[in-house]
Amino acid sequence: MNIQRIALVGGSGFVGRHLARHLHNRGYMCRIVSRRPHRLHEMGSIVEGVAADPFDRTQLTAAFGGCDAVINLVGILNSGGKQRSFRRVHVDLVENLVAAAHDAGVTRLLHMSALNADQSSGSSQYLRTKGEGENRAHTLGRPSIAVTSLRPSVIFGPDDGFLNRFATLLKIPGPMPLACPDAVLAPVYIGDVVCAFGNALEDRTTFGRRYDLCGPHSYTLRQLVEFIAAHTGHHKWIVGMPDWASRLQAAVLQYAPGKPFTPDNYQSLRTPSVCKQDGLAALGVEATSLENAGARILCGEGHLARLSRLRRLNQR
Ligand SMILES: NC(=O)c1ccc[n+]([C@@H]2O[C@H](COP(=O)([O-])OP(=O)(O)OC[C@H]3O[C@@H](n4cnc5c(N)ncnc54)[C@H](OP(=O)(O)O)[C@@H]3O)[C@@H](O)[C@H]2O)c1
Repeated sequence: MNIQRIALVGGSGFVGRHLARHLHNRGYMCRIVSRRPHRLHEMGSIVEGVAADPFDRTQLTAAFGGCDAVINLVGILNSGGKQRSFRRVHVDLVENLVAAAHDAGVTRLLHMSALNADQSSGSSQYLRTKGEGENRAHTLGRPSIAVTSLRPSVIFGPDDGFLNRFATLLKIPGPMPLACPDAVLAPVYIGDVVCAFGNALEDRTTFGRRYDLCGPHSYTLRQLVEFIAAHTGHHKWIVGMPDWASRLQAAVLQYAPGKPFTPDNYQSLRTPSVCKQDGLAALGVEATSLENAGARILCGEGHLARLSRLRRLNQR
Protein backbone atom coordinates (compact mmCIF):
# COMPACT_ATOMS: atom_id res chain seq x y z
CA MET A 1 0.00 0.00 0.00
CA ASN A 2 1.41 3.35 -1.02
CA ILE A 3 -0.50 6.18 0.58
CA GLN A 4 0.23 9.77 -0.32
CA ARG A 5 -2.91 11.88 0.02
CA ILE A 6 -5.35 11.44 2.92
CA ALA A 7 -8.81 12.97 3.39
CA LEU A 8 -9.73 13.73 7.01
CA VAL A 9 -13.49 14.07 7.55
CA GLY A 10 -14.27 15.95 10.77
CA GLY A 11 -10.62 16.96 10.68
CA SER A 12 -11.18 20.57 11.74
CA GLY A 13 -11.62 19.58 15.40
CA PHE A 14 -9.25 18.84 18.28
CA VAL A 15 -7.97 15.44 17.07
CA GLY A 16 -8.04 16.41 13.39
CA ARG A 17 -5.74 19.39 13.77
CA HIS A 18 -3.15 17.40 15.74
CA LEU A 19 -3.43 14.46 13.36
CA ALA A 20 -3.05 16.61 10.24
CA ARG A 21 0.15 18.17 11.63
CA HIS A 22 1.49 14.73 12.58
CA LEU A 23 0.73 13.19 9.17
CA HIS A 24 2.17 16.24 7.41
CA ASN A 25 5.41 15.76 9.39
CA ARG A 26 5.45 12.12 8.24
CA GLY A 27 5.31 13.29 4.62
CA TYR A 28 1.63 12.75 3.81
CA MET A 29 -0.58 15.31 2.07
CA CYS A 30 -3.68 16.03 4.13
CA ARG A 31 -7.00 17.27 2.83
CA ILE A 32 -9.41 18.32 5.56
CA VAL A 33 -12.99 17.81 4.45
CA SER A 34 -15.12 20.14 6.51
CA ARG A 35 -18.44 21.93 6.55
CA ARG A 36 -16.49 25.04 7.54
CA PRO A 37 -12.98 24.90 6.00
CA HIS A 38 -12.46 28.65 6.64
CA ARG A 39 -11.86 27.68 10.30
CA LEU A 40 -8.59 26.06 9.21
CA HIS A 41 -6.79 29.26 8.19
CA GLU A 42 -4.29 29.14 11.08
CA MET A 43 -3.02 25.76 9.85
CA GLY A 44 -1.53 27.58 6.86
CA SER A 45 -0.37 25.58 3.88
CA ILE A 46 0.18 22.29 5.70
CA VAL A 47 -3.37 21.18 4.90
CA GLU A 48 -5.74 21.60 2.00
CA GLY A 49 -9.22 22.55 3.21
CA VAL A 50 -12.15 21.34 1.13
CA ALA A 51 -15.79 22.27 1.81
CA ALA A 52 -18.27 19.38 1.74
CA ASP A 53 -21.41 18.26 3.50
CA PRO A 54 -20.49 14.81 4.89
CA PHE A 55 -24.12 13.68 4.49
CA ASP A 56 -24.03 14.37 0.74
CA ARG A 57 -22.55 11.37 -1.09
CA THR A 58 -21.82 13.28 -4.29
CA GLN A 59 -19.99 16.10 -2.47
CA LEU A 60 -18.05 13.61 -0.36
CA THR A 61 -17.06 11.50 -3.38
CA ALA A 62 -15.74 14.64 -5.10
CA ALA A 63 -13.87 15.63 -1.92
CA PHE A 64 -12.19 12.18 -1.79
CA GLY A 65 -10.97 12.47 -5.41
CA GLY A 66 -7.26 11.66 -5.71
CA CYS A 67 -7.04 10.43 -2.08
CA ASP A 68 -5.58 7.05 -1.18
CA ALA A 69 -7.03 6.92 2.34
CA VAL A 70 -9.84 8.44 4.37
CA ILE A 71 -9.88 9.09 8.11
CA ASN A 72 -13.24 9.59 9.80
CA LEU A 73 -13.09 11.78 12.90
CA VAL A 74 -16.68 12.99 13.04
CA GLY A 75 -18.31 12.62 16.44
CA ILE A 76 -20.57 14.46 18.85
CA LEU A 77 -20.95 14.18 22.62
CA ASN A 78 -24.46 15.63 22.66
CA SER A 79 -27.31 15.23 20.24
CA GLY A 80 -29.60 18.08 19.24
CA GLY A 81 -32.70 17.53 17.14
CA LYS A 82 -33.10 15.36 14.04
CA GLN A 83 -30.23 16.93 12.08
CA ARG A 84 -27.76 16.42 14.93
CA SER A 85 -28.92 13.10 16.36
CA PHE A 86 -26.36 10.51 17.50
CA ARG A 87 -27.71 8.05 14.91
CA ARG A 88 -27.39 10.52 12.03
CA VAL A 89 -23.84 11.61 12.95
CA HIS A 90 -22.38 8.29 14.14
CA VAL A 91 -24.18 5.79 11.87
CA ASP A 92 -25.81 7.42 8.80
CA LEU A 93 -22.72 9.53 8.17
CA VAL A 94 -20.47 6.44 8.29
CA GLU A 95 -22.68 4.64 5.75
CA ASN A 96 -22.48 7.66 3.46
CA LEU A 97 -18.74 8.04 3.96
CA VAL A 98 -18.01 4.39 3.12
CA ALA A 99 -20.25 4.59 0.03
CA ALA A 100 -18.41 7.74 -1.12
CA ALA A 101 -15.04 6.07 -0.45
CA HIS A 102 -16.11 3.13 -2.67
CA ASP A 103 -17.28 5.57 -5.38
CA ALA A 104 -13.97 7.46 -5.25
CA GLY A 105 -11.89 4.27 -5.38
CA VAL A 106 -10.36 4.77 -1.90
CA THR A 107 -9.00 1.52 -0.45
CA ARG A 108 -8.03 2.46 3.11
CA LEU A 109 -10.17 3.81 5.99
CA LEU A 110 -9.13 4.64 9.54
CA HIS A 111 -12.23 5.06 11.67
CA MET A 112 -12.26 6.92 14.97
CA SER A 113 -14.57 5.18 17.40
CA ALA A 114 -14.51 5.35 21.22
CA LEU A 115 -13.56 3.02 24.05
CA ASN A 116 -16.58 0.91 25.16
CA ALA A 117 -18.42 1.71 21.90
CA ASP A 118 -20.79 -1.21 21.67
CA GLN A 119 -24.07 -1.28 19.83
CA SER A 120 -25.47 -4.04 22.02
CA SER A 121 -24.61 -2.48 25.38
CA GLY A 122 -27.27 -0.96 27.58
CA SER A 123 -25.06 2.06 27.96
CA SER A 124 -25.43 5.58 26.59
CA GLN A 125 -26.73 6.42 23.16
CA TYR A 126 -23.31 7.95 22.43
CA LEU A 127 -21.57 4.60 23.00
CA ARG A 128 -24.29 2.52 21.33
CA THR A 129 -24.28 4.59 18.13
CA LYS A 130 -20.47 4.84 18.09
CA GLY A 131 -20.46 1.02 18.31
CA GLU A 132 -22.99 0.69 15.51
CA GLY A 133 -21.05 3.14 13.30
CA GLU A 134 -17.82 1.22 13.94
CA ASN A 135 -19.44 -2.08 12.95
CA ARG A 136 -20.94 -0.50 9.82
CA ALA A 137 -17.54 0.85 8.77
CA HIS A 138 -16.03 -2.66 8.98
CA THR A 139 -18.88 -4.52 7.27
CA LEU A 140 -19.65 -1.98 4.53
CA GLY A 141 -15.96 -1.45 3.75
CA ARG A 142 -15.54 -5.09 2.63
CA PRO A 143 -14.11 -6.31 0.37
CA SER A 144 -12.31 -3.38 -1.24
CA ILE A 145 -11.66 -1.01 1.68
CA ALA A 146 -9.27 -2.04 4.47
CA VAL A 147 -10.75 -0.65 7.69
CA THR A 148 -9.05 -0.14 11.07
CA SER A 149 -10.84 1.37 14.09
CA LEU A 150 -9.21 3.22 16.95
CA ARG A 151 -11.10 3.36 20.26
CA PRO A 152 -9.64 5.86 22.72
CA SER A 153 -10.59 6.65 26.31
CA VAL A 154 -10.80 10.39 26.97
CA ILE A 155 -8.02 12.22 25.10
CA PHE A 156 -5.98 15.00 26.71
CA GLY A 157 -3.78 17.58 25.03
CA PRO A 158 -2.95 21.29 24.94
CA ASP A 159 -6.28 22.42 23.48
CA ASP A 160 -8.53 19.57 24.60
CA GLY A 161 -12.06 19.78 25.96
CA PHE A 162 -11.20 17.80 29.08
CA LEU A 163 -8.28 19.20 31.15
CA ASN A 164 -9.07 22.71 29.91
CA ARG A 165 -12.76 22.42 30.70
CA PHE A 166 -12.13 21.45 34.32
CA ALA A 167 -9.33 24.04 34.58
CA THR A 168 -11.93 26.67 33.59
CA LEU A 169 -14.60 25.31 35.95
CA LEU A 170 -12.10 25.38 38.82
CA LYS A 171 -11.77 29.15 38.41
CA ILE A 172 -15.38 29.65 39.55
CA PRO A 173 -15.25 30.81 43.20
CA GLY A 174 -16.53 28.53 45.95
CA PRO A 175 -16.52 24.75 46.35
CA MET A 176 -16.78 22.70 43.18
CA PRO A 177 -19.66 20.20 42.99
CA LEU A 178 -18.50 17.19 40.97
CA ALA A 179 -20.93 14.75 39.35
CA CYS A 180 -19.88 11.09 39.03
CA PRO A 181 -16.72 11.52 41.15
CA ASP A 182 -16.06 7.75 41.15
CA ALA A 183 -16.22 7.34 37.34
CA VAL A 184 -13.00 5.70 36.13
CA LEU A 185 -11.02 6.94 33.10
CA ALA A 186 -7.61 6.22 31.57
CA PRO A 187 -6.78 9.49 29.74
CA VAL A 188 -4.66 9.01 26.65
CA TYR A 189 -2.31 11.68 25.32
CA ILE A 190 -3.17 13.24 21.93
CA GLY A 191 0.46 12.82 20.79
CA ASP A 192 0.12 9.04 21.33
CA VAL A 193 -3.26 8.89 19.58
CA VAL A 194 -1.99 10.60 16.42
CA CYS A 195 1.11 8.39 16.45
CA ALA A 196 -1.16 5.33 16.61
CA PHE A 197 -3.05 6.58 13.54
CA GLY A 198 0.21 7.25 11.69
CA ASN A 199 1.63 3.80 12.53
CA ALA A 200 -1.59 1.98 11.56
CA LEU A 201 -2.07 3.76 8.24
CA GLU A 202 0.09 1.58 6.00
CA ASP A 203 0.50 -1.43 8.27
CA ARG A 204 -1.33 -4.39 6.72
CA THR A 205 -1.43 -6.28 10.02
CA THR A 206 -3.91 -3.67 11.30
CA PHE A 207 -6.42 -4.18 8.48
CA GLY A 208 -9.82 -5.22 9.81
CA ARG A 209 -8.72 -4.76 13.41
CA ARG A 210 -9.89 -2.53 16.29
CA TYR A 211 -7.54 -1.02 18.88
CA ASP A 212 -8.44 0.26 22.36
CA LEU A 213 -6.24 3.24 23.29
CA CYS A 214 -5.61 4.20 26.94
CA GLY A 215 -3.05 6.07 28.96
CA PRO A 216 -0.77 4.04 31.26
CA HIS A 217 -2.86 4.66 34.41
CA SER A 218 -6.51 4.92 35.35
CA TYR A 219 -7.99 7.44 37.76
CA THR A 220 -11.32 8.36 39.26
CA LEU A 221 -12.80 11.60 38.01
CA ARG A 222 -12.22 13.07 41.47
CA GLN A 223 -8.50 12.21 41.29
CA LEU A 224 -8.31 13.80 37.84
CA VAL A 225 -9.97 17.03 38.97
CA GLU A 226 -7.70 17.13 42.04
CA PHE A 227 -4.71 16.72 39.72
CA ILE A 228 -5.92 19.59 37.52
CA ALA A 229 -6.57 21.76 40.58
CA ALA A 230 -3.08 21.07 41.97
CA HIS A 231 -1.39 21.97 38.67
CA THR A 232 -3.40 25.13 38.07
CA GLY A 233 -3.04 26.42 41.64
CA HIS A 234 -6.76 26.24 42.46
CA HIS A 235 -6.83 24.87 45.98
CA LYS A 236 -10.48 24.38 46.53
CA TRP A 237 -12.98 22.02 48.05
CA ILE A 238 -14.18 19.45 45.51
CA VAL A 239 -17.53 18.05 46.61
CA GLY A 240 -18.29 14.65 45.09
CA MET A 241 -22.01 14.40 44.40
CA PRO A 242 -23.95 11.24 45.26
CA ASP A 243 -25.48 9.30 42.39
CA TRP A 244 -28.98 10.78 42.71
CA ALA A 245 -27.56 14.33 42.69
CA SER A 246 -25.36 13.57 39.65
CA ARG A 247 -28.43 12.34 37.77
CA LEU A 248 -30.37 15.41 38.83
CA GLN A 249 -27.54 17.71 37.72
CA ALA A 250 -27.50 16.01 34.29
CA ALA A 251 -31.28 16.33 34.01
CA VAL A 252 -31.02 20.09 34.65
CA LEU A 253 -27.79 20.95 32.77
CA GLN A 254 -28.99 19.31 29.54
CA TYR A 255 -31.10 22.45 29.11
CA ALA A 256 -28.24 24.90 29.82
CA PRO A 257 -26.51 26.58 26.82
CA GLY A 258 -23.90 24.25 25.31
CA LYS A 259 -25.36 21.28 27.25
CA PRO A 260 -22.44 21.02 29.70
CA PHE A 261 -23.67 17.70 31.17
CA THR A 262 -26.52 15.48 29.99
CA PRO A 263 -28.21 12.24 31.07
CA ASP A 264 -26.41 10.55 28.15
CA ASN A 265 -23.02 11.84 29.40
CA TYR A 266 -23.97 10.50 32.85
CA GLN A 267 -24.75 7.08 31.31
CA SER A 268 -21.40 7.02 29.45
CA LEU A 269 -19.53 7.72 32.68
CA ARG A 270 -21.13 4.70 34.35
CA THR A 271 -18.99 2.36 32.21
CA PRO A 272 -15.33 2.40 33.35
CA SER A 273 -13.29 3.87 30.48
CA VAL A 274 -10.30 1.54 30.87
CA CYS A 275 -8.67 -0.75 28.31
CA LYS A 276 -8.73 -4.54 28.36
CA GLN A 277 -6.01 -4.72 25.70
CA ASP A 278 -3.11 -2.33 25.15
CA GLY A 279 -3.80 -1.01 21.64
CA LEU A 280 -1.08 1.64 21.86
CA ALA A 281 1.61 -0.99 22.51
CA ALA A 282 0.19 -3.15 19.69
CA LEU A 283 0.65 -0.15 17.38
CA GLY A 284 4.19 0.47 18.59
CA VAL A 285 3.44 3.51 20.74
CA GLU A 286 4.72 3.93 24.29
CA ALA A 287 1.96 5.50 26.40
CA THR A 288 2.69 8.95 27.86
CA SER A 289 1.50 9.53 31.42
CA LEU A 290 -0.82 12.28 32.54
CA GLU A 291 1.69 13.14 35.27
CA ASN A 292 4.22 13.91 32.56
CA ALA A 293 2.38 15.53 29.63
CA GLY A 294 -0.71 16.69 31.55
CA ALA A 295 1.35 18.58 34.09
CA ARG A 296 3.25 20.36 31.29
CA ILE A 297 -0.01 21.28 29.55
CA LEU A 298 -1.64 22.64 32.70
CA CYS A 299 1.46 24.52 33.81
CA GLY A 300 1.71 25.98 30.30
CA GLU A 301 -1.86 27.20 30.64
CA GLY A 302 -1.04 28.75 34.01
CA HIS A 303 2.06 30.36 32.52
CA LEU A 304 0.08 31.88 29.62
CA ALA A 305 -2.62 33.11 32.01
CA ARG A 306 0.06 34.79 34.17
CA LEU A 307 1.60 36.41 31.08
CA SER A 308 -1.72 37.85 29.93
CA ARG A 309 -2.42 39.14 33.49
CA LEU A 310 0.98 40.89 33.47
CA ARG A 311 0.25 42.38 30.03
CA ARG A 312 -3.09 43.71 31.25
CA LEU A 313 -1.40 45.27 34.32
CA ASN A 314 1.21 46.95 32.10
CA GLN A 315 -1.50 48.41 29.88
CA ARG A 316 -3.22 50.19 32.80
N1 LIG B 1 -11.74 14.04 22.30
C1 LIG B 1 -11.88 12.91 23.01
O1 LIG B 1 -11.59 12.84 24.22
C2 LIG B 1 -12.41 11.67 22.31
C3 LIG B 1 -12.44 10.45 23.02
C4 LIG B 1 -12.94 9.32 22.38
C5 LIG B 1 -13.35 9.38 21.05
N2 LIG B 1 -13.29 10.58 20.40
C6 LIG B 1 -13.75 10.62 19.01
O2 LIG B 1 -12.74 11.25 18.23
C7 LIG B 1 -13.32 11.97 17.14
C8 LIG B 1 -12.76 13.38 17.10
O3 LIG B 1 -12.99 13.99 18.35
P1 LIG B 1 -12.64 15.54 18.60
O4 LIG B 1 -12.41 15.68 20.06
O5 LIG B 1 -11.60 15.97 17.64
O6 LIG B 1 -14.04 16.21 18.25
P2 LIG B 1 -14.32 17.70 17.76
O7 LIG B 1 -13.20 18.61 18.12
O8 LIG B 1 -15.67 18.06 18.27
O9 LIG B 1 -14.37 17.57 16.17
C9 LIG B 1 -15.27 16.70 15.57
C10 LIG B 1 -15.53 17.11 14.13
O10 LIG B 1 -16.75 16.48 13.73
C11 LIG B 1 -17.44 17.30 12.81
N3 LIG B 1 -18.85 17.40 13.23
C12 LIG B 1 -19.33 17.76 14.44
N4 LIG B 1 -20.67 17.75 14.44
C13 LIG B 1 -21.05 17.39 13.19
C14 LIG B 1 -22.30 17.21 12.55
N5 LIG B 1 -23.46 17.41 13.20
N6 LIG B 1 -22.31 16.85 11.27
C15 LIG B 1 -21.17 16.66 10.61
N7 LIG B 1 -19.94 16.81 11.15
C16 LIG B 1 -19.89 17.17 12.41
C17 LIG B 1 -16.81 18.68 12.83
O11 LIG B 1 -16.21 18.91 11.57
P3 LIG B 1 -16.55 20.18 10.63
O12 LIG B 1 -17.24 21.22 11.46
O13 LIG B 1 -15.22 20.64 10.14
O14 LIG B 1 -17.39 19.68 9.52
C18 LIG B 1 -15.74 18.59 13.93
O15 LIG B 1 -14.55 19.21 13.57
C19 LIG B 1 -14.84 11.88 17.35
O16 LIG B 1 -15.34 10.85 16.57
C20 LIG B 1 -14.98 11.51 18.81
O17 LIG B 1 -16.18 10.78 19.08
C21 LIG B 1 -12.84 11.72 20.99
